[in-house]
Amino acid sequence: MQGTATLSFEPDDAATIEDPYPVYERLRARDPVHWNPKGFWFISRYEDVLACLKDPRFSNQPAPFALVHARNRAKFVAADVVNNLIAFKDGPDHSALRGWLARSFVRHTQRHQDRFGALATTCAARLRTQQRADMVADYALPFASRAICAVLGVPDRDAPQIAAWSNDFFRLFHAIPDADEFSRLNQSLDAFRQHVMDLMAQRRAAPEDDLISELVAHMDGAVSEHEVADNLMLLAADGIGNVQSGLTNCLSILLAQARLPEPLFGTTKDIARLVDECLRLESPGQYQGRITREAVEIGGKTLRARSIVLLGLASANRDATVFADPEAFRPADQRPQHLAFGAGAHMCLGSAMVRAEIVQALRALFPADGPRISSAPDRVWMARPGHRWLDRLDVEISA
Ligand code: HEM
Repeated sequence: MQGTATLSFEPDDAATIEDPYPVYERLRARDPVHWNPKGFWFISRYEDVLACLKDPRFSNQPAPFALVHARNRAKFVAADVVNNLIAFKDGPDHSALRGWLARSFVRHTQRHQDRFGALATTCAARLRTQQRADMVADYALPFASRAICAVLGVPDRDAPQIAAWSNDFFRLFHAIPDADEFSRLNQSLDAFRQHVMDLMAQRRAAPEDDLISELVAHMDGAVSEHEVADNLMLLAADGIGNVQSGLTNCLSILLAQARLPEPLFGTTKDIARLVDECLRLESPGQYQGRITREAVEIGGKTLRARSIVLLGLASANRDATVFADPEAFRPADQRPQHLAFGAGAHMCLGSAMVRAEIVQALRALFPADGPRISSAPDRVWMARPGHRWLDRLDVEISA
């Protein structure tokens, strides 16, 4: 029987973390606007996810009952930081701050693209001295953290500490096990923020050619010190966590092929298309949360005001009504636009940067005459609901 009664989507189930795609497929077919009695909706079809991403009736502000809600700003650093981030603002507040930040960020990432290649070459050369490696810790993490530090203007020696703080930063966005862990996260965020504010003060006194210097030079009273520092922390955390997972997700797909696909040795455009196909298939952000501001009709169902809604980006990316043969890896095809970077007002600010970084990281790893890299068949995914991030990606390297 094909009823909806037995269908459920449990983001933190071990089976879902391991392989969420069968349940997405069933939801798209049988219950595309799915209510989970634990208190949230899950939207799984491409067309609906895209419409919701572009609909201002869906708010990005932190859930009213979360510890990081605005009413807790004076109590917890975490709540203050979260409410300063562009990712959690709506409407004109969002567009003003995003516009101000994006102008300088995009310019600096474009100017650094050549350095991504040099950095990837250095990180890949270090790997060649090893016979075994974990591509998460030994390649993607050092590459991603050093690249974003270079763009922001954070000294290279700080990259490991920034990576540790960024990891804590991301922990805010899934269940926090207890009060002790929440207190530790608050201390970590406080230290991260203080470090960024110290750098801002240094660059104000002695500007350099980097994003921090440009932002502090252009503060005109419309943005506060904390808003700038907290959004720099967001860029650092996204620039490390998402790049690390995006790159290793691409690698896990490439290394699972019988032979490396031709486009990998082609032009920048060929490799960029291949990267997009990998991110469609294994999207690092599986879904994006929203809260309805008012009642919304979707797929014949009514979502009440203040409902929690998870927009299934990764499910949309395997919707057969949009992507022919959606489970297949087709690196040479011109596919429709996937939703791994979202869409609408909050669409990823770093999408161009991460594409450029992954292209360079793959090029450095797979020169035409490079060593053979083969991966163990098992892939271990982090138990972080909503995140498709590899814990490790073990490989063997042979001449
Ligand atoms: C493969 C890597 C990445 C993926 C899959 C990814 C995915 C996303 C998604 C889905 C959103 C939209 C969130 C929403 O609709 O609410 C987003 C927003 C954002 N991303 Fe990325 N991202 C990646 C890399 C990066 C990088 C490298 C940076 C910067 C260094 C970055 C910075 C941001 C920022 C600042 C936002 C918030 C934009 C806003 O709310 O206006 N991301 N990202």
